[in-house]
Amino acid sequence: MTSELIHDVLIIGSGAAGLTLALQLPTHLSVAVLSKGQLTSGSTWLAQGGIAAVLDEDDTTQAHYSDTMIAGADLSRQQAVEYTVNHGNSSIQWLIKQGVPFTREDSHFHLTQEGGHSHRRIIHAADATGRAVQETLIQQARAASNISLFENCIAVDLITRNKLRLPNNRCVGAYVLDSQSGKVQLFRAGQVVLATGGASKAYLYTSNSDGASGDGIAMAWRSGARVANMEFNQFHPTCLYHPQAKSFLVSEAVRGEGGHLLLPDGERFMLRFDERGELAPRDIVARAIDHEMKRLGCDCLYLDISHKPADFIKAHFPTIYQKCLELGIDITRQPIPIVPAAHYTCGGIITDIRGRTDIPNLYAIGETAFTGLHGANRLASNSLLECVVFASAVASDIAASQAVSPDSSISVPAWDSSQVTDSDEDVIISHNWEELRRFMWDYVGIVRTNKRLQRAKHRVDLLQQEITDYYSNYRVTRDLLELRNLALVSDLIIRSAMQRTESRGLHYTLDYPTLAAEARDTILTPVNYEWPDQVH
Ligand code: FAD
Ligand code: SIN
Repeated sequence: MTSELIHDVLIIGSGAAGLTLALQLPTHLSVAVLSKGQLTSGSTWLAQGGIAAVLDEDDTTQAHYSDTMIAGADLSRQQAVEYTVNHGNSSIQWLIKQGVPFTREDSHFHLTQEGGHSHRRIIHAADATGRAVQETLIQQARAASNISLFENCIAVDLITRNKLRLPNNRCVGAYVLDSQSGKVQLFRAGQVVLATGGASKAYLYTSNSDGASGDGIAMAWRSGARVANMEFNQFHPTCLYHPQAKSFLVSEAVRGEGGHLLLPDGERFMLRFDERGELAPRDIVARAIDHEMKRLGCDCLYLDISHKPADFIKAHFPTIYQKCLELGIDITRQPIPIVPAAHYTCGGIITDIRGRTDIPNLYAIGETAFTGLHGANRLASNSLLECVVFASAVASDIAASQAVSPDSSISVPAWDSSQVTDSDEDVIISHNWEELRRFMWDYVGIVRTNKRLQRAKHRVDLLQQEITDYYSNYRVTRDLLELRNLALVSDLIIRSAMQRTESRGLHYTLDYPTLAAEARDTILTPVNYEWPDQVH
């Protein structure tokens, strides 16, 4: 039998977005926060550079607005950008009030510089900002009596009245796999919020942790919500290149503080590609690195900050210094080997300015959402800001809404696993994972063509068939759920990329190398979405 838990608000995800929302909701509401691993799983914990906001008296929200619009290549939505930059300062003040230990220099918070920003406006906690934010928010959430935190609980699918064949569609909860007991529980809630992070695990090389499998996007899509701009996958220019360094980022702030990108012979090359040099927006820098690596046939390029005083480097980048040192690279004396890697999902579940999705009582916030802020390319350090700003917007919307209580009169079928067995061939899952991530990297990466996209589409279709078959016959596990979601999200990325017949921001294709006259979002609408087999 499926056990049932009932809360006013169910938040799926314990990153910056999910925890901010949990803490900002009125305390009379009972709130459940799920994490599919430990509470620290996800990208927030890994965030290095910092959070962009107008904090310096010489800076203006107008400048932050215009930097964001330029990076977004005319595709950022004016309303979302205005809303975000205007709420930047108050969001940072809220984080400071929670106790986030941002780095100070003299009596001020230190602000660093990153690509595409016309001012120093990145507040940070040395080079481990995300960890400082998440540690603080977890501590606060643990102390809040209305918040229940559930680790190792993976949302499998959302439950909507539509799926139950009832009128007046809205989201009423989710089926959740407890990965330790293997049981699927039913979480009912008045409001459900997806805060599940991005999908960069679709690519072989990524700065993200294992959980970035686009679960929220896939669940929302299967429930009938539209997604937008999935083709805009951001590749971070500088991930550490070392056989023992899995997914380790070397922050853009290293370039912000004067780091140089070098070819293997020591030549600085970025000025050949853009007058802003190393501080051009990420799409330009990542493409330039990719171009030079292919031209020279080399495995990596280099990022060098060794011309700065050793004490400065150790104080500003203690995490990067230590990590590189463990691998035998002393960054105060040597350049760092780097390669680009998949980093951020700019597209996602379409929401309005209050975080509402197409499905009543279902919200989406953070990297899983498409608010329109990032357009065709996210400006560095705007993501954590978006998490906090839109989590606050959703908290206000829920606080103001009339019908928060879960509707316990609806009969929801228990998760039925009587028709499935344990898999005896888990190798199929790991093999499919590898295949998917490799062809996404090879065919849907930094430089695309029609032919490569068609190849990828063909393969993803086959994979999806195989996975559907597997899903119908075997008991669900975390690996299977993530693979199923990643294959679906990869399909959405490929389909979106095929629809964009131009090169804009992060989407660059040799078949359409120029910009179209009109900037348009790629919006996909689900048809024939299915209720999972197990609960028919
Ligand atoms: P995440 O922090 O990714 O959290 C997702 C949560 O959802 C996790 O708790 C996970 O367990 C949970 N989850 C997912 N699926 C399920 C499921 N099915 N069931 C239950 N739970 C689920 N941005 C900046 O602005 N500044 C930076 O300096 C910066 N540096 C970065 C450095 C790195 C290495 C990376 C990878 C990203 C960086 N980013 C940065 C981007 C930023 O960190 C992320 O976009 C942001 O943290 C996303 O927060 P989130 O709350 O949306 O999701
Ligand atoms: C970084 O520190 O380079 C990451 C910043 C970001 O992704 O916004």
